Amino acid sequence: MASVEIKPGVYWIGVNDRTTDLFEGIWPITREGVSYNSYLIDDRKKVIIDLSKAIKTDIFFDHIAEIIDISEIDYVIINHMEPDHTGVLRTLKRMAPKLTILGTTKTKQMLEGFYGIKENVQEVSNGETLSTGTRELKFIYTPFVHWPETMVTYDTKDRILFPCDAFGGYGALRGAIFDDDCKDLDFYIKESLRYFVNIVAKFTHPVLQAIEKLSDISIDIIAPSHGLIWRKQPQLIVDLYRKWSEYARGDNEFGVTLIYGSMYGNTEMMMNTVVQGLSSENIPIEIFDASRTHPSYILPSLWTYSGVVIGAPTYEGGLFPPIAHVLEMAVSKRVMNKKAAMFGSYGWSGGALRGIKSIVEAAKWNMLDTLEFIGGPTDEDLKRGKEFGVNFARSLKAQESL
Ligand code: FEO
Repeated sequence: MASVEIKPGVYWIGVNDRTTDLFEGIWPITREGVSYNSYLIDDRKKVIIDLSKAIKTDIFFDHIAEIIDISEIDYVIINHMEPDHTGVLRTLKRMAPKLTILGTTKTKQMLEGFYGIKENVQEVSNGETLSTGTRELKFIYTPFVHWPETMVTYDTKDRILFPCDAFGGYGALRGAIFDDDCKDLDFYIKESLRYFVNIVAKFTHPVLQAIEKLSDISIDIIAPSHGLIWRKQPQLIVDLYRKWSEYARGDNEFGVTLIYGSMYGNTEMMMNTVVQGLSSENIPIEIFDASRTHPSYILPSLWTYSGVVIGAPTYEGGLFPPIAHVLEMAVSKRVMNKKAAMFGSYGWSGGALRGIKSIVEAAKWNMLDTLEFIGGPTDEDLKRGKEFGVNFARSLKAQESL
């Protein structure tokens, strides 16, 4: 993709990444990709806002060179120090000798820690402004969205917010970079939720604080550093981030995430019967096989829905490891206060239930019901399984109406 003019003198100069398999070394993006959006302001002062991971650097620098002489860049604004937005900084520094790096106090410390960069780094304070000639850029601290050093940059002339990670999402750009040009908005919204839960969910309070802090600013365009630029509906992505953050307070959607694992099909057989019971009560359900699905794709459902049903066999006297892994990731991401139920097969002794409780206790999940059976489920077990599903759905409904 070539660079794109967003407004006269303001350019997208980002890079699409379709070759990294795991974002942060954890989260799969092989199919979806991701973009590292960077922005260039071509004014009397030449300014770049956020950079790119050190990948396809020739493309990144070509984008800049299409518009200006790289050696003339005056400032680079580091809204967020994480290397997916600063990986090319040392190279840029060599190519632009008069470059001054702007960031928060913590950014300055991190630049030294990550890159050994100490020279030509200038701290900006919360609310400080920078004139580029015909524009004024304002810096607003938004700590812990995503790291402690983060801030956003606001262009007062065209009312463009550059929030870096905030309001971003997975999904490499497919030619269209604006929400109004995009023909598959649902994909980007779904990938924004997955990104939110994978990357930002632990920091929902700071996200809500940042949204509140930005609420008195008039914003025409939101230009994040991952995913689409929102110029038709900037409020949409803000409202989604607010809604997703409020799920952490217990304002979840009515529905069930069913996570199961099965060694020889016995727990899976019970799962199909439990689902019959659940669905007979018209409850939204999402089903995930924990052995075959990365937690990255399960977490958005866990984050969204009020109920969780776990189908887990006992494995060597404990919890089936793929289920343990998903639950540990959920607790680590602060998936809190779920109404839960558990079913599963065991061979000679239980242990799965104990394993589940020991993991989710810290996240205050309320285990409403359990159903364990020996080996393969009997007809009687399956009958109980359907009732188990019905009862859990009814309990959830009852608690929703409180
Ligand atoms: Fe896109 Fe927290 O870095």
